[in-house]
Parts: sequence; structure tokens; C-alpha cells
Amino acid sequence: MTSAKQDIEPGASAIGVDEIVALYRKYRDDLAVVRNEQRALRAANPALKAQLDDLEAEITYLLIRETRPANMVEIGSLHGWSTNWILRALRDNGMGHLHTYDLIDNARHNVAPELADERWTFVRGDARNELALYDRKIDYLFIDAAHTASFARWFVGDLFPLLRSDVPVSVHDVFHGRRPWPVSEGRVVLSWLADAGLDHFTVSRAAAPRHHRRITGLKDELGLAAPVHTGRHNPMLFFRTA
Ligand SMILES: C[S@@+](CC[C@H](N)C(=O)[O-])C[C@H]1O[C@@H](n2cnc3c(N)ncnc32)[C@H](O)[C@@H]1O
Repeated sequence: MTSAKQDIEPGASAIGVDEIVALYRKYRDDLAVVRNEQRALRAANPALKAQLDDLEAEITYLLIRETRPANMVEIGSLHGWSTNWILRALRDNGMGHLHTYDLIDNARHNVAPELADERWTFVRGDARNELALYDRKIDYLFIDAAHTASFARWFVGDLFPLLRSDVPVSVHDVFHGRRPWPVSEGRVVLSWLADAGLDHFTVSRAAAPRHHRRITGLKDELGLAAPVHTGRHNPMLFFRTA
């Protein structure tokens, strides 16, 4: 485990590439272990569909490590690839609980009992209905579900206003290209961020090639270059609430 102290400003700032670089250095050794665990998970489950690409999965892991959320919500788990990344971060923090919402429950079959144990609640159903029953605060919100404008209008309208300040939020499938599609989840999220005066961060190869190159080069330097899985778009958008 790496314990080198890094000069990272916690809290009310936008997520930026320098912060992410510092987090890769700080948690490098733990991340190397988790990458191997995720690789082994895929090897043991060849049918497991993995949607989250490596950089965005790793950044999610790093932000969870640094933020230490007590309560985290994931919307959209599919076969549990992102769920495993998130649960390993909570395990490595030694604290935190994840509530996962999905219409299908395949993820249940792909999370090891010792990882799930007392750390994970899976709720099968439409997040738009089920989250009405969620009665905790959300310290990290991860969204990778229906990529439609109407679904996004639900979460920016009903969920985002409930978040306290300094809460990290991840929204997947925004930046497959330089910009989100005109009528899409990503477009709705970007409009909401603009109205709120908030910046976002991405390492999308198409939308942020310099960030993408910087993190890829850093991973070479840190001995983390070998891919865990093959996706390379990294379309996730990250931001912190004001
Ligand atoms: C892109 S997949 C998630 C991929 C996963 N995060 C990963 O890393 O592999 C999207 C998931 O969102 C779920 N989903 C779609 N609409 C939903 C809704 N309204 N409520 C809950 N889950 C939903 C789908 O069932 C699907 O499993």
C-alpha cells in the first residue's frame, strides 16, 4: 500500500487532471492489486460484459478512495463490472456502503460474497421509482443506465438537487465523440452543469485527448499500462457538486 502524502486539495474544487495524476501516484499500489483482481474476474467469467473502460474505472476507484464515501449509489450495473470496481474501492477504504439499482439482476451473480458482505445492497427495479425509498445521504453518485435525454432529465431534476456540496458524480457514455449527441443524456447533463456554473472532467480520447495522453503516459511510468479490458473510449463525465 502506498502511503506517500500528496498535496491534494480536498473539497470544493472542480475535478482536474493534476488531481487525478496525484491520485494515481498516491494509490498506485492498491490500484495495481485491484486491476489484477478485475482481470481475474473477467478471466473467470468470459461472458461478463464490461462496459466501463480502464481509465474511467480507475478514476472512479481513485475518487472513491480519496473521498471515502459512507453511502454511495450506483445506477446501472449490468453484469457488475463497475460494481466490482466500486466495491473494491470501498473495501480498500475499510468503510462505506453501496446501493446499486438496475432493472436486471445479473450483477448479483458476479460479485463475490466476501466483497458484497455488509457492503452492498442490490435493488432490482427502475431507479426512478426505487430511489424514492432511499433514505440516506448520497456521498458519491455513479450513473451508467439509460442514456436518453428523458432519463437524464429525471436525474438532473430529481436527484442532483438532493446532493450536498462536494459530492463526486460520474455519468457514463457522454463523450464517445468530441461532444455529446444533440438529444442525449450527455447534452442534458452539460446544460445542467452550465446552468449551475460547474466544470466537468473527462479523459475521453475524443473529447479530451491531452488529458487522455497525460494519464496514459503516467500509467506507463507507473507500470500500469497493460489493459484490463479492451474498451478505449473512456466516455465518462465527472464533476463535483458546488
Ligand atoms: C450500460 S449498462 C451498465 C454497465 C455497467 N455499469 C458496467 O460497468 O458494465 C446500463 C444498465 O442500466 C440499466 N438501466 C437502464 N435503465 C434503468 C433504470 N431506469 N433503472 C435502473 N437501471 C436501469 C440496464 O438494465 C443496464 O443493465
